[in-house]
Amino acid sequence: MTELRGRKALITGGGKGIGRAIALRLAKGGADVALFEVDEGSAQKTAISIEEMGVKSLYLRVDVSLQEEVEKGVEEINQRWEGLDILVNNAGITRDNLIMRMTSEEWDSVLGVNLRGAFYCIKAVLKGMMRKRWGRIVNVSSVVGKMGNPGQANYVSSKAGLIGLTKAVAKEVASRRITVNAVAPGFIDTEMTKALPQKIRDLFLNQIPLGRTGRPEDVANLVFFLCTEEAGYITGQAINVDGGMLM
Ligand SMILES: NC(=O)c1ccc[n+]([C@@H]2O[C@H](COP(=O)([O-])OP(=O)(O)OC[C@H]3O[C@@H](n4cnc5c(N)ncnc54)[C@H](O)[C@@H]3O)[C@@H](O)[C@H]2O)c1
Repeated sequence: MTELRGRKALITGGGKGIGRAIALRLAKGGADVALFEVDEGSAQKTAISIEEMGVKSLYLRVDVSLQEEVEKGVEEINQRWEGLDILVNNAGITRDNLIMRMTSEEWDSVLGVNLRGAFYCIKAVLKGMMRKRWGRIVNVSSVVGKMGNPGQANYVSSKAGLIGLTKAVAKEVASRRITVNAVAPGFIDTEMTKALPQKIRDLFLNQIPLGRTGRPEDVANLVFFLCTEEAGYITGQAINVDGGMLM
């Protein structure tokens, strides 16, 4: 079944960029899509676009770094939709600084959203997936979680941590037909990368064999596939979507 009709998905940070593209791709595949977002304006726009595709959407203002908000949000989805089949941990932030200057606040905020947030969301949805004996969890990591990047010790640690989390949980829940994978985007054109100076963009571009930066849809297509029935024999992987940047 190369489609997701009848499936219920939750995308964190689904208002903009890669998260929005994932939300729309899953909706195009027939899934009902809920969004956890802190940016209300963008989340509402995404929710409207989802409904225009003829499926249901549900926007909840949830900061994924706060366990209570995550638990309440998942409870609300469970009540309205009778459980979730798909979770995509996409919400992510950067607070770049050299390690010598990095503050504990910069460290904690990035780890809090990118890694702890994923932990809270996985914990909150797993009980329902275990009961259904079916589930798909996709964590949005990054190639820098595999290769490192100067000025991003906090971000890189969170993205490497997500790969470890993916593998540990994949082993814990495999017997329940729940797969857990990570995707590792390279340089994708979104608000997160728009802020980078042209010099840095060119530096990245020179390292991409396919000769272009990525589009959010490039990542969304892989996430969609990992959520289908056909991807049921793939688990514990961290797959790059980077135009060949990291081989
Ligand atoms: N853009 C890239 O090149 C790139 C590369 C590798 C990995 N990634 C990862 O992809 C994911 C999406 O990145 P993007 O480029 O689309 O970024 P983006 O900044 O465009 O979008 C991130 C979204 O997450 C939301 N968000 C932030 N903190 C949140 C929180 N605490 N709770 C809920 N929502 C929150 C934001 O409001 C925003 O809508 C991130 O995890 C990022 O680390 C991006």
